[in-house]
Amino acid sequence: MKISVIGTGYLGAVHAAGMAELGHEVLGVDSDAHKIAELAAGRAPFHEPGLGELLARGVASGRLSFSTSLEDAAAFADVHFVCVGTPQEPGSDRADLRFVDAVVAGLAAHLVRPALIVGKSTVPVGTARRLAALAASAARPGVAPALAWNPEFLREGFAVEDTLAPDRLVFGVDDASSEAVLREVYATVLDRGTPTHVTDLETAELVKVAANSFLATKISFINSMAEVCEAVGADVTVLADAIGEDARIGRKFLNAGVGFGGGCLGKDIRAFRARGHELGVGQALEFLAEVDATNDRRRQRVLDLAAARFDGDLVGRRVTVLGAAFKPDSDDVRDSPALHVARGLHDLGAVVTVHDPAAVDNARRVAPQLGYADDLGDAVAGAELLVLLTEWRQYREADPRLLASLVEDAVVVDGRNALDTTLWTAAGWTVHALGRPVSAPVWNVTPFVETASPVRQEEAVA
Ligand code: UDX
Repeated sequence: MKISVIGTGYLGAVHAAGMAELGHEVLGVDSDAHKIAELAAGRAPFHEPGLGELLARGVASGRLSFSTSLEDAAAFADVHFVCVGTPQEPGSDRADLRFVDAVVAGLAAHLVRPALIVGKSTVPVGTARRLAALAASAARPGVAPALAWNPEFLREGFAVEDTLAPDRLVFGVDDASSEAVLREVYATVLDRGTPTHVTDLETAELVKVAANSFLATKISFINSMAEVCEAVGADVTVLADAIGEDARIGRKFLNAGVGFGGGCLGKDIRAFRARGHELGVGQALEFLAEVDATNDRRRQRVLDLAAARFDGDLVGRRVTVLGAAFKPDSDDVRDSPALHVARGLHDLGAVVTVHDPAAVDNARRVAPQLGYADDLGDAVAGAELLVLLTEWRQYREADPRLLASLVEDAVVVDGRNALDTTLWTAAGWTVHALGRPVSAPVWNVTPFVETASPVRQEEAVA
């Protein structure tokens, strides 16, 4: 089939390469000429495991090409996937739909034959139906496109796998012919028995935001439990393991730490709540405000722990932050908890050095005020405090003895519960892991005061 993929960000670039891998002829379109040049050369413009190989293969096969022109897309393809961003609107919680609107209207105006426009971007419920009307009014007579919604559930870091072998497909359609086209697009995936849900446009839009809301809620739930654990000296990681054994609960997405970030969960739950209010069902989604607030409190908690380590005064203290990406195996720093905390430490007067295996260039662009080091050893040398905020394998598998020999003080805040506290403590480290009792070497044990006040605990170990 001849397919265009419009918007080649984290979602669209992988989708375009994935569609070519499935055997289709694909034209990827983006207004960013630099990005398009990189993609056309078969190079991934961002860090995503496996994407470089997939792109190179697609381009070499001749099935994958790129352009900056919507007119090219209209001339080339019969199916157009819309993958442009829907960021948070400046000054509000709502989604900013101007890119989606512009692409649908612009593409429809250039169409020369009937086509199917398939939305993949995450949008407020009701958008697809509005876009269908927009496309119909923008198109020339006789070539009004059909519109379908096919939400995307890919996780950064696993985007290639999630695109080629998704755990489910959702087709929001208005008519049988749109469904037939989507079945042809995904024939290879469907042949493998992938669960598929064919539904109306509104349900398809809601599936996406409901899924992200549930995931965010699950993370904030365990982080709420972490707050309670911190108050009483309990261990949230054991609690998560124990409740996670219950198949109705499940252990996935119960990792307590500094909370969620990235380009999706935060802005999606805010936009969903805002949409709920517009629809008169604001109360039904009000819990999402608490999910968001709990997530923010975890970032503050790391700042409080770091400050408590220096009796409340971070001025001039050398703090090394491990991680800048919002999660491992990604160079994405959008709404990254790691970078948020690093900036906060800097604002409190600390001399901050950030290390990340992949995200330093992106981090430097948005937070040039911070210090950066490319080498882990250089990053930690002379540090008075380490703060781990992205659980890269390089940190999880680092030798705590070696790191202890490089730092000034062997004290670490584990903001992701990623470190083996027994190993690190044996190597001389004092480990403050979120939602767990402080773990200190035997020669360095300060009496642990069991109290309902987390502040008192910090004082006891500071
Ligand atoms: C998410 C959804 O998972 C995906 O289905 C959707 O298409 C886009 O949004 P992504 O943003 O790539 O994907 O990241 P995800 O793996 O969901 O992690 C989001 C954030 O939550 C990260 O910052 C991660 O560190 C954090 N997280 C995740 C936790 O704090 N604890 C957990 O247990 C899991």
